[in-house]
Amino acid sequence: MIAVAATRNRHKIEEIGAIMGAFGFTLQSQSEAGLEAIDVTEDGDTFEANSLKKAMAIYQACGKTTVADDSGLMVDALDGAPGVYSARFSGEGATDQSNNEKLLHLLGNLPLEERSAKFVAVITLILESGEKIVVRGECPGTILFAPKGEGGFGYDPLFCPEGYEESFSELGSEIKNKISHRAKALQALDAELKRRGVAYD
Ligand code: IMP
Repeated sequence: MIAVAATRNRHKIEEIGAIMGAFGFTLQSQSEAGLEAIDVTEDGDTFEANSLKKAMAIYQACGKTTVADDSGLMVDALDGAPGVYSARFSGEGATDQSNNEKLLHLLGNLPLEERSAKFVAVITLILESGEKIVVRGECPGTILFAPKGEGGFGYDPLFCPEGYEESFSELGSEIKNKISHRAKALQALDAELKRRGVAYD
Protein backbone atom coordinates (compact mmCIF):
# COMPACT_ATOMS: atom_id res chain seq x y z
CA MET A 1 0.00 0.00 0.00
CA ILE A 2 1.21 3.49 -0.81
CA ALA A 3 0.97 6.20 1.87
CA VAL A 4 1.67 9.89 1.30
CA ALA A 5 3.87 11.37 4.04
CA ALA A 6 2.43 14.62 5.39
CA THR A 7 5.82 16.21 6.02
CA ARG A 8 8.55 18.04 4.14
CA ASN A 9 11.21 16.94 6.63
CA ARG A 10 13.43 14.55 4.65
CA HIS A 11 14.82 12.95 7.82
CA LYS A 12 11.35 12.02 9.00
CA ILE A 13 10.50 10.67 5.53
CA GLU A 14 13.64 8.50 5.58
CA GLU A 15 12.89 7.14 9.04
CA ILE A 16 9.15 6.58 8.49
CA GLY A 17 9.87 5.09 5.04
CA ALA A 18 12.43 2.64 6.45
CA ILE A 19 10.20 1.53 9.33
CA MET A 20 6.92 1.35 7.37
CA GLY A 21 8.74 -0.31 4.47
CA ALA A 22 9.30 -3.30 6.74
CA PHE A 23 5.52 -3.41 7.37
CA GLY A 24 4.75 -3.47 3.62
CA PHE A 25 4.06 0.23 2.99
CA THR A 26 5.70 2.33 0.30
CA LEU A 27 6.03 5.95 1.33
CA GLN A 28 5.49 8.80 -1.12
CA SER A 29 6.78 12.27 -0.28
CA GLN A 30 4.56 15.34 -0.57
CA SER A 31 6.49 16.43 -3.66
CA GLU A 32 6.15 12.99 -5.30
CA ALA A 33 2.40 13.33 -4.70
CA GLY A 34 2.43 16.84 -6.27
CA LEU A 35 1.68 18.47 -2.91
CA GLU A 36 5.01 20.20 -2.20
CA ALA A 37 3.28 23.58 -1.74
CA ILE A 38 1.18 22.47 1.23
CA ASP A 39 2.69 23.76 4.46
CA VAL A 40 0.51 23.27 7.52
CA THR A 41 0.69 25.74 10.42
CA GLU A 42 1.32 23.69 13.54
CA ASP A 43 -0.65 25.74 16.04
CA GLY A 44 -2.11 22.95 18.17
CA ASP A 45 -1.34 22.56 21.89
CA THR A 46 -0.74 18.83 21.61
CA PHE A 47 1.18 16.42 19.39
CA GLU A 48 -2.16 14.73 18.66
CA ALA A 49 -3.79 17.95 17.39
CA ASN A 50 -0.85 18.84 15.13
CA SER A 51 -0.47 15.31 13.80
CA LEU A 52 -4.17 15.14 12.88
CA LYS A 53 -4.08 18.60 11.31
CA LYS A 54 -1.13 17.69 9.06
CA ALA A 55 -2.67 14.37 8.03
CA MET A 56 -6.06 15.95 7.27
CA ALA A 57 -4.54 18.70 5.11
CA ILE A 58 -2.79 16.19 2.87
CA TYR A 59 -5.64 13.67 2.86
CA GLN A 60 -8.15 16.36 1.86
CA ALA A 61 -5.84 17.49 -0.96
CA CYS A 62 -5.24 14.03 -2.48
CA GLY A 63 -7.78 11.55 -1.05
CA LYS A 64 -5.04 8.96 -0.69
CA THR A 65 -3.80 7.06 2.35
CA THR A 66 -1.80 9.61 4.36
CA VAL A 67 0.60 9.37 7.27
CA ALA A 68 1.66 12.31 9.49
CA ASP A 69 4.14 12.57 12.35
CA ASP A 70 4.17 15.27 15.00
CA SER A 71 7.00 14.83 17.41
CA GLY A 72 9.26 16.56 19.87
CA LEU A 73 11.46 16.43 22.91
CA MET A 74 10.14 16.81 26.48
CA VAL A 75 12.74 17.64 29.12
CA ASP A 76 11.74 17.01 32.75
CA ALA A 77 13.86 19.84 34.20
CA LEU A 78 12.12 22.24 31.79
CA ASP A 79 8.61 21.07 32.73
CA GLY A 80 8.20 19.23 29.43
CA ALA A 81 9.61 21.97 27.15
CA PRO A 82 10.30 22.29 24.28
CA GLY A 83 7.45 19.80 23.58
CA VAL A 84 5.25 20.82 20.65
CA TYR A 85 7.58 23.80 20.12
CA SER A 86 10.65 21.60 19.54
CA ALA A 87 11.18 22.65 15.91
CA ARG A 88 11.07 26.40 16.72
CA PHE A 89 12.48 26.30 20.28
CA SER A 90 15.03 29.05 19.63
CA GLY A 91 12.56 31.31 17.83
CA GLU A 92 12.07 32.60 14.30
CA GLY A 93 14.59 31.06 11.90
CA ALA A 94 15.51 28.32 14.39
CA THR A 95 17.99 25.68 13.22
CA ASP A 96 18.88 22.33 14.77
CA GLN A 97 22.11 23.92 16.00
CA SER A 98 20.45 26.96 17.58
CA ASN A 99 17.83 24.73 19.24
CA ASN A 100 20.53 22.46 20.65
CA GLU A 101 22.51 25.45 21.90
CA LYS A 102 19.47 26.87 23.68
CA LEU A 103 18.74 23.51 25.29
CA LEU A 104 22.32 23.16 26.57
CA HIS A 105 22.27 26.74 27.85
CA LEU A 106 19.02 26.19 29.80
CA LEU A 107 20.24 22.95 31.37
CA GLY A 108 23.61 24.49 32.27
CA ASN A 109 25.58 22.24 34.62
CA LEU A 110 22.64 20.19 35.89
CA PRO A 111 23.98 16.73 36.73
CA LEU A 112 23.15 13.78 34.49
CA GLU A 113 20.50 12.41 36.84
CA GLU A 114 18.56 15.69 36.47
CA ARG A 115 18.80 15.72 32.66
CA SER A 116 16.08 13.15 31.98
CA ALA A 117 13.91 13.64 28.90
CA LYS A 118 11.82 11.76 26.41
CA PHE A 119 11.11 11.97 22.70
CA VAL A 120 7.44 11.70 21.75
CA ALA A 121 5.93 10.95 18.35
CA VAL A 122 2.24 10.91 17.46
CA ILE A 123 1.51 9.30 14.12
CA THR A 124 -1.83 9.70 12.36
CA LEU A 125 -2.73 7.40 9.50
CA ILE A 126 -5.78 8.23 7.41
CA LEU A 127 -6.81 5.40 5.10
CA GLU A 128 -8.27 6.09 1.66
CA SER A 129 -11.70 5.26 3.16
CA GLY A 130 -11.26 8.14 5.64
CA GLU A 131 -10.73 5.80 8.61
CA LYS A 132 -8.25 7.37 11.07
CA ILE A 133 -5.74 5.73 13.37
CA VAL A 134 -3.73 7.76 15.90
CA VAL A 135 -0.83 6.16 17.79
CA ARG A 136 1.83 7.48 20.16
CA GLY A 137 5.38 6.34 20.87
CA GLU A 138 7.82 7.53 23.52
CA CYS A 139 11.54 7.01 23.98
CA PRO A 140 13.07 7.90 27.39
CA GLY A 141 16.66 9.08 27.76
CA THR A 142 19.06 11.76 28.95
CA ILE A 143 20.33 15.08 27.57
CA LEU A 144 24.12 15.02 27.21
CA PHE A 145 26.47 17.93 28.09
CA ALA A 146 27.62 18.46 24.49
CA PRO A 147 26.61 17.21 21.03
CA LYS A 148 28.04 13.80 20.08
CA GLY A 149 28.06 12.26 16.60
CA GLU A 150 27.18 13.42 13.12
CA GLY A 151 24.12 11.43 12.01
CA GLY A 152 20.40 12.05 12.37
CA PHE A 153 18.70 15.41 12.84
CA GLY A 154 17.19 17.74 15.42
CA TYR A 155 18.20 16.93 18.98
CA ASP A 156 19.76 13.55 18.03
CA PRO A 157 23.37 14.60 18.95
CA LEU A 158 22.26 15.53 22.50
CA PHE A 159 19.93 12.63 23.23
CA CYS A 160 21.19 9.41 24.80
CA PRO A 161 18.38 6.81 24.86
CA GLU A 162 17.88 4.75 28.02
CA GLY A 163 20.05 1.62 28.06
CA TYR A 164 22.73 3.09 25.75
CA GLU A 165 25.95 5.10 26.22
CA GLU A 166 25.82 6.84 22.82
CA SER A 167 23.67 9.63 21.37
CA PHE A 168 21.06 8.87 18.68
CA SER A 169 23.49 10.50 16.20
CA GLU A 170 26.22 8.05 17.15
CA LEU A 171 23.92 5.01 17.27
CA GLY A 172 22.86 5.48 13.64
CA SER A 173 19.62 4.82 11.82
CA GLU A 174 19.56 1.03 12.14
CA ILE A 175 19.40 1.15 15.95
CA LYS A 176 17.41 4.38 16.13
CA ASN A 177 14.73 2.96 13.85
CA LYS A 178 14.24 0.02 16.24
CA ILE A 179 14.00 1.93 19.54
CA SER A 180 12.94 5.51 18.78
CA HIS A 181 9.64 7.21 19.64
CA ARG A 182 8.82 7.08 15.90
CA ALA A 183 9.61 3.37 15.71
CA LYS A 184 7.43 2.65 18.75
CA ALA A 185 4.51 4.66 17.36
CA LEU A 186 4.79 2.88 14.00
CA GLN A 187 4.99 -0.53 15.71
CA ALA A 188 1.74 0.41 17.50
CA LEU A 189 0.28 1.43 14.13
CA ASP A 190 1.20 -1.93 12.60
CA ALA A 191 -0.45 -3.73 15.53
CA GLU A 192 -3.58 -1.57 15.28
CA LEU A 193 -3.90 -2.17 11.52
CA LYS A 194 -3.64 -5.91 12.13
CA ARG A 195 -6.18 -5.70 14.97
CA ARG A 196 -8.63 -3.90 12.66
CA GLY A 197 -7.98 -6.41 9.89
CA VAL A 198 -6.72 -3.81 7.40
CA ALA A 199 -4.80 -5.61 4.65
CA TYR A 200 -1.83 -3.63 3.39
CA ASP A 201 1.06 -5.87 2.46
P1 IMP B 1 7.49 18.82 14.04
O1 IMP B 1 6.96 17.44 14.31
O2 IMP B 1 7.53 19.13 12.60
O3 IMP B 1 6.78 19.84 14.89
O4 IMP B 1 9.02 18.87 14.46
C1 IMP B 1 9.52 18.08 15.43
C2 IMP B 1 10.84 18.62 15.95
O5 IMP B 1 11.15 17.83 17.10
C3 IMP B 1 11.98 18.42 14.98
O6 IMP B 1 12.21 19.56 14.20
C4 IMP B 1 13.15 18.15 15.91
O7 IMP B 1 13.67 19.35 16.41
C5 IMP B 1 12.48 17.41 17.07
N1 IMP B 1 12.48 15.96 16.82
C6 IMP B 1 11.42 15.14 16.57
N2 IMP B 1 11.81 13.88 16.37
C7 IMP B 1 13.15 13.89 16.49
C8 IMP B 1 14.13 12.87 16.37
O8 IMP B 1 13.86 11.70 16.06
N3 IMP B 1 15.40 13.27 16.57
C9 IMP B 1 15.75 14.53 16.88
N4 IMP B 1 14.89 15.52 16.98
C10 IMP B 1 13.57 15.21 16.79
